[in-house]
Amino acid sequence: MKKTVKTLLDMKAKGEKIAQLTCYDYTTARLMDEAGVDMILVGDSLGMTMQGYNDTLPVTLDEMIVYGRSVARACKETFVVLDMPFMSYQISPAQALESAGRMMKEAPGISAVKLEGGVHIAPQIKAITEAGIPVVGHVGMTPQSVNALGGFKVQGKGEENAERVLQDALAVQEAGAFAITLECVPPKLATLITKKLDIITIGIGASNGCDAQVLVYQDMLNMTTGGIAPKFVRHFANIGDEMKKAFTEYQAAVKDQSFPAVEHTYPKSDCSDEFLASLDAKY
Ligand code: KIV
Repeated sequence: MKKTVKTLLDMKAKGEKIAQLTCYDYTTARLMDEAGVDMILVGDSLGMTMQGYNDTLPVTLDEMIVYGRSVARACKETFVVLDMPFMSYQISPAQALESAGRMMKEAPGISAVKLEGGVHIAPQIKAITEAGIPVVGHVGMTPQSVNALGGFKVQGKGEENAERVLQDALAVQEAGAFAITLECVPPKLATLITKKLDIITIGIGASNGCDAQVLVYQDMLNMTTGGIAPKFVRHFANIGDEMKKAFTEYQAAVKDQSFPAVEHTYPKSDCSDEFLASLDAKY
């Protein structure tokens, strides 16, 4: 059965931890759904993982809808959240509602949208939730504000900043969100925020004091070559090395002609030698 907002809130009420991963394509989403992953985030991190940008800012609403559709089509049980990209909601609550509405209409199977920001973005969250669209908030390190924050850095350091992150989280709840991502928030603060909120806290670099966890799937599978993984990443497999090994072996097999072998061809469908000889002579 497809997980719903209620399923997830019931899990929080029972103290059952919730697992979320990012995902951007049908094939991977099917594997996650079959593995029983509770939630998928079609994150705008796809700007970096799928499109090769340095940050998430260039990603467009149209692009998010295409990726969102592909993932949603694969998920029979997993709850799918679609990220609202930079400048698709910041201008006004009306703009936010219009963008969220497009996402829900044009990416069928999506169950919620996510947007970044706290106190200042609460009117947008209110407008979207009042239209019946479930919302996940996102505070702490908010990647769309990377230029204002001076880099991808831990947030909530120091008393004043810690209080601001808590106020942001409370504002997101007050505006109607059912969950909130806490990114790069120190552990004791993340635990306090989780205690103060009735909604689900989803941590990324925010400790197991949160109700749920999320990781970017290329990070947890160690598929990102060359870059240094953030401190909060655990590599659950070394798929990057496995893929590189397979690509290298394929390249070598084509060169030395060990691939394709006879068993990879369709000899029974071939015409007779006589007929092929006649074709050879004719052309
Ligand atoms: O876009 C994304 O993948 C995210 C996660 C890092 C939480 O926002």
